[in-house]
Amino acid sequence: MLYTEGKARIECSKSTFLNPKMAGLRDLSVLFVRALGGDDKSLLDATAATGIRGIRYGLEAGIKRITLIDINKGACRDAKVNLKRNGVKAALVNDSVQGYANRGNGPFDIIDLDPFGSPVPYLYDIMKLCHGDTALMVTATDTAVLCGAHAAACLKQYGARPLHNELCKEAGTRILLGFIARAAAQFNFGISVHLSISNMHYMRVFLSLRKGAKEAVESVKQTGFAASCRECRFFAASKGTVPCLPQRCGECGAEMERAGPMWLGNLYNKSIVSRMLSAKAGITDNLAEQLSLIVKEPDTPFFYSMPAITRALGIGSVSPGLVIRLLKRRGYDAAPTQFLAEGIKTDAKLGAIVRAVKESGRAEAQ
Ligand SMILES: C[S@@+](CC[C@H](N)C(=O)[O-])C[C@H]1O[C@@H](n2cnc3c(N)ncnc32)[C@H](O)[C@@H]1O
Ligand SMILES: [Zn+2]
Repeated sequence: MLYTEGKARIECSKSTFLNPKMAGLRDLSVLFVRALGGDDKSLLDATAATGIRGIRYGLEAGIKRITLIDINKGACRDAKVNLKRNGVKAALVNDSVQGYANRGNGPFDIIDLDPFGSPVPYLYDIMKLCHGDTALMVTATDTAVLCGAHAAACLKQYGARPLHNELCKEAGTRILLGFIARAAAQFNFGISVHLSISNMHYMRVFLSLRKGAKEAVESVKQTGFAASCRECRFFAASKGTVPCLPQRCGECGAEMERAGPMWLGNLYNKSIVSRMLSAKAGITDNLAEQLSLIVKEPDTPFFYSMPAITRALGIGSVSPGLVIRLLKRRGYDAAPTQFLAEGIKTDAKLGAIVRAVKESGRAEAQ
């Protein structure tokens, strides 16, 4: 099969993995690498399959020092053909990235880790391929685990308790980042998060490492715990290594669903996201729209789901846009979130939101 994406023409035999549905995410990754600047950077495509990512970074982001790794022989055969076909020079390694990392290779300026399922089995070894300023892109497709469908699996894999409600995608993204922050810290790296995306069946985070014991400790201190009321939808999040959350909801007294540890620092570096957005030509509408949402999204933990709140209140549905307008009129910051179509991120307290929801319900009924 010959497949065209961006500037790359890719051959893919039956046994090699290539998902055309991830084209948008690869476009976004190219934008990120471009936003990092500097074509003299070294890049590792750690789970390369056909080599499509490394090849696109070469053709579309001007990266010249590229290494591709894949454990699968057939994938490496395809990658070799694809490198040649696209005129991209790269070192091609048929090995496990873990084995490669443990033979003293690296470090790299940019690493793309895009495995099947969870990135956890790779992350410790990936840290050995990093230096104090490495940019990391990490995909997780075990979203059912991170979103709480299998709480025991999440505990085992990520050492964290997930949320299994309307907040699950954001909690899952934060659990992934929390795991990365703790893994990095063991190698004396802190993390700076540039972009976090949750979409379809994947989560993808873009970050940079910062060298130093102090940075490592600071970034672990950005992790913490969250609680979400099973009834009224009130939530609380608190940073720190010791869980410090109420068992019962302060608003209605119902039981809180508790989760963590997870990253409670920022999910976005808005100046990088804006730079990516202004150069977005060519990326799928869906992801361009998501970036536009992200630029306006208050970068604080969690949000209110309008359907969950109206259900708890026992009233009909409301327009999130109207609730946002009412909250803004009252001086609050409020905007939609990428994590839920009818979710609102705001600095307003639950009481103010409930008032705005009831009022917009009445306004719609008139
Ligand atoms: C999801 S695919 C990568 C897809 C590719 N990045 C793309 O965008 O089309 C995961 C790849 O990782 C490879 N792989 C699995 N375990 C590995 C390991 N331990 N080290 C390196 N590659 C591995 C698989 O052979 C497979 O080709
Ligand atoms: Zn409550």
